[in-house]
Amino acid sequence: MAFEVEILRLGAQGDGVAEGPDGPVFVPFALPGERVVIEPSADGKHAELLNVLVRSPERADPVCPHFGLCGGCTLQHLEEGAYLEGKRKQVVQALRSRGLETEVEPVRAVPIGSRRRATLTLGRNQQGLTFGYRRVRSHDLIDIDVCPVLSPRIVKRLPKLKAALEPLLGRKAEARVGVTETETGLDLVIEGVRPPEAVLAGLAGDAGKLSVTRITVDSDAFLPGAQPTIRFASAEVRLPAGAFLQASAEAETVMTELVREGTGRAKRIADLFAGLGTFTLALAETAAVDAFESDEAALAALSEAARHTPKLKPVRTVQRDLVLTPVGGKELDRYDAVVFDPPRAGAAAQAEALAKSKVKKIVAVSCNPGTLARDLRILVDGGYRLTRVVPVDQFLFSSHIEIVAHLER
Ligand SMILES: C[S@@+](CC[C@H](N)C(=O)[O-])C[C@H]1O[C@@H](n2cnc3c(N)ncnc32)[C@H](O)[C@@H]1O
Repeated sequence: MAFEVEILRLGAQGDGVAEGPDGPVFVPFALPGERVVIEPSADGKHAELLNVLVRSPERADPVCPHFGLCGGCTLQHLEEGAYLEGKRKQVVQALRSRGLETEVEPVRAVPIGSRRRATLTLGRNQQGLTFGYRRVRSHDLIDIDVCPVLSPRIVKRLPKLKAALEPLLGRKAEARVGVTETETGLDLVIEGVRPPEAVLAGLAGDAGKLSVTRITVDSDAFLPGAQPTIRFASAEVRLPAGAFLQASAEAETVMTELVREGTGRAKRIADLFAGLGTFTLALAETAAVDAFESDEAALAALSEAARHTPKLKPVRTVQRDLVLTPVGGKELDRYDAVVFDPPRAGAAAQAEALAKSKVKKIVAVSCNPGTLARDLRILVDGGYRLTRVVPVDQFLFSSHIEIVAHLER
């Protein structure tokens, strides 16, 4: 049954939070200070926003016509200043929950249309063929013709891609299509279908018209165009299908600059969880860098790029599972600075090893404020000082945030 509530704060997922009869109720698209009418779900923990009776002065008009239906964005209804400050406070609170009271700088914003990769779903709904995202809190699909988050060079090709990809579906209900914008065209990674060779050959034949340079289906790659590459500083890196890549090139530029500043004049650097070498290849312009990473294909691409880029200092690649075997003990003594950028689970074991080291400068990069705070606590307990914390709004209009932290001893 619908009832009125006041929204007290924003939750970590970007929902408005009200106090219901049985505890907190999460209300998507509602803002703190608003009086709203909600329809609670069966469990009473979530609710649909039916009406805004008293509107927050910070409420803004969303930039996308799909906002509110599409499950991709949660925070387009908040005015930019309040939106960025909300993300900054999320980082402050995560650090505070680990007893870290430190200044968190204003969030570095990224422009609209700067996301260079996304996973869309090809499927069917009542209107017919759809190529887009899930409807909010639902498995239904909505067709996407505009997406202000995504690079306009991807968006303008969505209608033609949808038509060209249709034969892949066959009798399958859905396929997942990863799209990445590379230096040489769009790189597609398709999962969930096993189309016949003839269908793939047809798609490969259309690739030029669609600006598609590679199509990978269930780890079989078709290369109708040039090898997909990505540029990091002065290096050009071959992109292995499905390898990790920062979602926005603009956010990556800001993060790389912060990583350079945090490592200062270091001459020997370890880049842990190095991926394709986003930071390694930039840092190697002035320092010898050892890149540690578990993904063999990513390391091979990094190493090849380093060999072909003139004027870099030595780059060494080491394949290592840093959760099972962190870089530690005497191994760390050879570095003036260490950068670590783990997946969302963080790098507790690696932080424990670093906490016992003599490394002078550490830069921690993370897309998860909770695990970052845990890892920073370990380092601070080991004698490091947190000198800078800078959030970067890599995941525009979502509740997610990227963070770069500098530490010294
Ligand atoms: C957030 S990405 C960062 C990559 C790179 N620093 C960048 O900016 O592109 C995390 C990286 O950690 C790697 N990784 C995940 N688990 C790992 C592990 N247990 N040991 C080593 N590397 C791991 C992933 O393959 C991925 O490349």
